[in-house]
Amino acid sequence: MDTAISNSAGIRDIAYHLHSQSNPRHHEQQDPFVVVRGDGAYVFDNKGKRYIDAMAGLWCASLGFNDKRLAAAAARQYERLGFNHTFYSRTSDVTTDLAEKLVSMTGMRDGKTYFATSGSEANETMVKFAWMYHAARGNPRKRKVISRDKGFHGSSIVAASMCGLEAMHNNFGLPLDGFIKTLCPDGYRVRRRGEDDAAFVARLVDELEQLIVREGADTIAAFIAEPVIAGGGIIPPPAGYFEAVQMVLERHDILCLDDEIVCGFGRTGNWFGHETVGMRPDMMSMAKGLTASYFPMSAVVMSRKIYEVIADSGWLGHGFTYSGHPVGAAIALEAISIYEEMAIVEHVRRVGERLRSGLERIGAQSSIVGDVRGVGLMYGVELVADPVAGTPFDPALQVGQQFQALARENGLITRCMRDTVGFSPPLIIGDGEVDDMLERFSATLGAIEARVSK
Ligand SMILES: Cc1ncc(COP(=O)(O)O)c(C=O)c1O
Repeated sequence: MDTAISNSAGIRDIAYHLHSQSNPRHHEQQDPFVVVRGDGAYVFDNKGKRYIDAMAGLWCASLGFNDKRLAAAAARQYERLGFNHTFYSRTSDVTTDLAEKLVSMTGMRDGKTYFATSGSEANETMVKFAWMYHAARGNPRKRKVISRDKGFHGSSIVAASMCGLEAMHNNFGLPLDGFIKTLCPDGYRVRRRGEDDAAFVARLVDELEQLIVREGADTIAAFIAEPVIAGGGIIPPPAGYFEAVQMVLERHDILCLDDEIVCGFGRTGNWFGHETVGMRPDMMSMAKGLTASYFPMSAVVMSRKIYEVIADSGWLGHGFTYSGHPVGAAIALEAISIYEEMAIVEHVRRVGERLRSGLERIGAQSSIVGDVRGVGLMYGVELVADPVAGTPFDPALQVGQQFQALARENGLITRCMRDTVGFSPPLIIGDGEVDDMLERFSATLGAIEARVSK
């Protein structure tokens, strides 16, 4: 074993713990990153080193890592009612309060909230409800789901099938049949030279419609999308994209499923990402920011149109033990109160602008930044070998991996999606934390630039 692995927590982690989204053999060779406490947007490892977490964990710790009000709300609810379920018409007071709150926040007039535990479960729930919807209306063959290249929707079998990322399929024999992909609306990599937004959107939508016709509209249940693609590399759509997509979906009686798991609760500078991008969903899934990730809870909010069909279908044979967990609900209600008190939408827009202009300024001075993109508090900086031609780095160089490792040494936690450096910090950050992130980013970028230009 590597002598650098010097602490007991790390040694035991290697001995006993199989990690998500990690390479087990690499994990055996390196000092595990053991986080022991948080302070706002900062976390500390077990050696006492402090980091600013520019990814809010997994795009999710919107209120930072040690919010006292969320801890108190959890403690109060644990003392009052530590568990309840939502089967057989049973509920808890806080669960109902949250269901009502989510319907009113999303503007799903007369809609309903369904609770689950993880983002993957919420997305799979939307697929099951879409199948029910079409079957109940006499179209049981409408079962396929269209998603986009580079989209991410979770790790369970159907959710992974909807991902447009090979790593989610390799080794598992996925995607399942019937989970088909359309183009990613990636303005940097998929847009052709000379194509303006309108021409790019027309091409994307044309490709989508051809796919629908080829597969048969009578076999397609739903289209699922993140308003702004997150894990696939932080990719906002071109103007007019969702409006045009939606016209095609409506023409073919295909439901629009909105994955708000990252974009919901302020991340894009609106309460929900669909407002930012002009999407009109039939159902939307949410998790992460819902409880600021202090409890594993997710939800699906559906329109009246979907609910009425489900309600007429008899017994709903679906549910999770922890659906509508009262502690999760109490935490979510408290998180939403905090978001409202801090005027999260305005805050994200203001602070996000500082982050965006800082990244653009640093990018403009660098010889390896090809693209700075994003919205709200969600940005990606794509590193390339040649910014003029947009030539990517040779994948063998693993520039993103190198950047991520060096950034950590510099006290900055980012996530590199291939060679795109991600920023999705806790929404509570202020100007000081933005400047701190920018400084550490700039120092890391300079060092990587020197390395690759040797
Ligand atoms: C957009 C999106 N959808 C779904 C998921 C899956 O959520 P979970 O990991 O809670 O199942 C994620 C997780 O990162 C996500 O980013």
